[in-house]
Amino acid sequence: MTQCGEAMAEASTGKPGAADLLAWYDRHQRDLPWRAKPGVTADPYHVWLSEIMLQQTQVQAVIPYFLGFLERWPTVEALAQAPRDDVLAAWAGLGYYARARRLHDCAREVAGNLGGRFPDTEEGLRALPGIGAYTAGAIAAIAFGRRAAAVDGNVERVMARIFQIEEVMPAAKKAVRKVTLELIPADRPGDFAQALMDLGATICTPRKPACGICPWRDACLARLAGVAEELPKSAPKKKRPHRHGLVFWLEREDGAVLFRTRPDEGLLGGMLEVPTTTWRDTDWNLAEAAADAPVAGGWQLLPDVVRHGFTHFTLDLRVAALSYCGGEVTGTWHHPDTFPSLALPTMTRKVIKHARTARL
Ligand code: ADE
Repeated sequence: MTQCGEAMAEASTGKPGAADLLAWYDRHQRDLPWRAKPGVTADPYHVWLSEIMLQQTQVQAVIPYFLGFLERWPTVEALAQAPRDDVLAAWAGLGYYARARRLHDCAREVAGNLGGRFPDTEEGLRALPGIGAYTAGAIAAIAFGRRAAAVDGNVERVMARIFQIEEVMPAAKKAVRKVTLELIPADRPGDFAQALMDLGATICTPRKPACGICPWRDACLARLAGVAEELPKSAPKKKRPHRHGLVFWLEREDGAVLFRTRPDEGLLGGMLEVPTTTWRDTDWNLAEAAADAPVAGGWQLLPDVVRHGFTHFTLDLRVAALSYCGGEVTGTWHHPDTFPSLALPTMTRKVIKHARTARL
């Protein structure tokens, strides 16, 4: 026999409404440090900082960074005044380092030219460094109560399912944006944006969505058609290419190690790396790589490789080591005692660990 609740759910094709989602959010929202308590207006600096950190990074990874930044730089003015290297060092480990440089540029712009106040419209926000469509929508809605859409991958998944949008991504983005905009309520648009984020993160998950406890279960066309887990549709993923490099671990007698700063633009921009060859499709041997070494000498190849995954490729780095005996080098020497305060991206940290373990 069919259960009463099931029968009702099957029979209903009611439209999804903001009220159902907000009622669910009031009971189940995640407790996150950048969220204002009910009835309190969110601080635009907190909202902006969290949204920049949350671009391409998981909530749990962001929390300690968000709290650390606020403790050190409680206001946008304080962040604007911080030396760039301190900001990059504090960001180290979060990845996508261009974000940290733009974050700092944005703080300088807001503190220097806008009297410390963030613009309160999507358009004004989008004119600032590091703020794209998603982030502008999120800040406008959460910090300023604007009826703005913040459509990221989570929201795309929720909307593609609720409205059973079968079109393949990214072509479906336009349709997703349209239905999202139509659903945003005039009151509590910020809570609505965050409720959608929470729904996507906790219930409408990529695999095995918990449809049975979803506030929109009765309206979800994909669930009713039994295709929730198949949506959104995306074109088959291309395999990530694989690259190879060889890095040169040059260690002075006092233990200091030679680093270089990567160019500001591009991957790991402005961050420190151990001097490296170019990264190419084929493996390196020491003889070929020698021309790129910071000094000539009897470089020793350490066993194994360091593997690091970037968004668009994976990288294997061989590590060659040498004790420095003099000669002119380009770069900066840093003693291991100072490593914790340096702008060291995860890739460089892996190389350090590998070289120090192998040479102990
Ligand atoms: N992802 C992006 N922005 C977020 C927010 N404000 N809360 C939770 N997850 C998010």
